[in-house]
Amino acid sequence: MTVSSSVPPIIQGGMGVGISDWRLARAVSLQGQLGVVSGTALDTVLVRRLQDGDAGGHMRRALSAFPMPGVAADVLRLYFRPKGRPPGVPYKMLPVYKQVMSRARQLVTVLAAFVEVYLAKEGHQEMVGLNLLTKVQIPTLPSLYGAMLAGVDVILMGAGIPREIPVVLDRLVQHQAVSLRFEVEGLPSGREDHLILDPKEFWTTPPDLRRPLFFAIIASNSLATMLARKADGRIDGFVIEGPTAGGHNAPPRGEPRFNERGEPLYGERDVVDLTKMSELGLPFWLAGGAGRRGRLHEALAAGASGIQVGTLFAYCDESGLAENLKRSVLEHAARGEVTVMTDPRASPTGYPFKVVRWPGAPGDDVTRERLCDLGGLRAAYYTAEGKIGYRCPAEPVTAYVKKGGKVEDAVGRRCLCNALTADIGLGQVRANGKAEPPLVTSGDDLESIGEFLAGRTRYSAADVVDYLLS
Ligand SMILES: Cc1cc2nc3c(=O)[nH]c(=O)nc-3n(C[C@H](O)[C@H](O)[C@H](O)COP(=O)(O)O)c2cc1C
Repeated sequence: MTVSSSVPPIIQGGMGVGISDWRLARAVSLQGQLGVVSGTALDTVLVRRLQDGDAGGHMRRALSAFPMPGVAADVLRLYFRPKGRPPGVPYKMLPVYKQVMSRARQLVTVLAAFVEVYLAKEGHQEMVGLNLLTKVQIPTLPSLYGAMLAGVDVILMGAGIPREIPVVLDRLVQHQAVSLRFEVEGLPSGREDHLILDPKEFWTTPPDLRRPLFFAIIASNSLATMLARKADGRIDGFVIEGPTAGGHNAPPRGEPRFNERGEPLYGERDVVDLTKMSELGLPFWLAGGAGRRGRLHEALAAGASGIQVGTLFAYCDESGLAENLKRSVLEHAARGEVTVMTDPRASPTGYPFKVVRWPGAPGDDVTRERLCDLGGLRAAYYTAEGKIGYRCPAEPVTAYVKKGGKVEDAVGRRCLCNALTADIGLGQVRANGKAEPPLVTSGDDLESIGEFLAGRTRYSAADVVDYLLS
């Protein structure tokens, strides 16, 4: 069976943090399409759900299926609160990622990816994918291994150049040690640093695994061609993501230009040539504004194997987005009262990031504190003492500058780690009793979601699939 005949025509995009959770991915997979869980910050999501009492017992059910003895019990002992957190009590944090993590810390990440994929796959035989951001390097290897232990079918990675991942999957399937080149700013030439994972440190008799398919998410022909020809190992397909897609976008090519709202302008050079894509001989799915009636048909006619859709799924009943945000955004969107802004500064990654604004939205600009305590988007840098340090342009400016960061790089940055965990109702409570404000992201098509809603105020993942197939 070829890849394009085994992978369904609709891919539900991975949406972090926790918007594409196991419930959404499972619901989409049960419709015979590809449900995808977001792998971003899953370890924090797991330990916060446990601290909130694990309503329904889903985390504990999946933990009890984890094949390495003792690991789940340790996490339960440290984080599970049967009665949940008393009001105003902050979440207990996991140690922040570093290049070298303790075995126990790596295993929390392995476990968290296992849990999410296990639940998404529970009780059916359909395919389930895992989405990871290439740029968030440190948790990648343990996340891949955990997802593979739960039988993940497809790995999808964008936001960077995931060139080394295919061979990592080939090795992990044999439980062999793997490494990734670790990006460290200011590293002296000739020196390389690595992230390493060796499954043999975890156990002596691991189970048989299956290698998942690997899809790279790209926004240009040149990157697709480079990956198809030069990746280490086999790429199985591509998702081509255009600049209207929710979440992070690839920056425009060439000299940066902006419109009057300060949004980056995209042009002809940013359009991916689908004829050239077809020449690579690998299947591809089209993402960004594909969540409209007729788009699937158009994509197939243009040589694609299907579409990847995020925004429509982000607001369906099964998604992880907090209920109050879902209701408020949909209510305003139905009346044409939301705007989606492509903010070139908000994300610490430096990539443009889509931000949803609507009347009555929580005041992100006013109330958000500059800080970095989750560390998911920190960049590693080489210090004057020859060590590796970490900095995030969303942390307090003085701290950032002290670590060699430039003031101009810190302007306008938001702590997306905290904002996005707040979006799914798992936001941290600060010492002053205030909760982290959310910051919602969606694709440009959110502005016209009224057309799809057709008077409804809520809908299911199955409704989205029916609409896309219609
Ligand atoms: C709320 C939200 C979060 C997203 N987070 C991610 C992510 O973590 N990783 C990723 O590769 N893509 C992410 N995306 C992009 C989607 O996977 C998908 O490609 C995109 O939404 C498709 O375009 P559409 O929004 O027009 O449907 C996100 C999109 C949304 C709406």
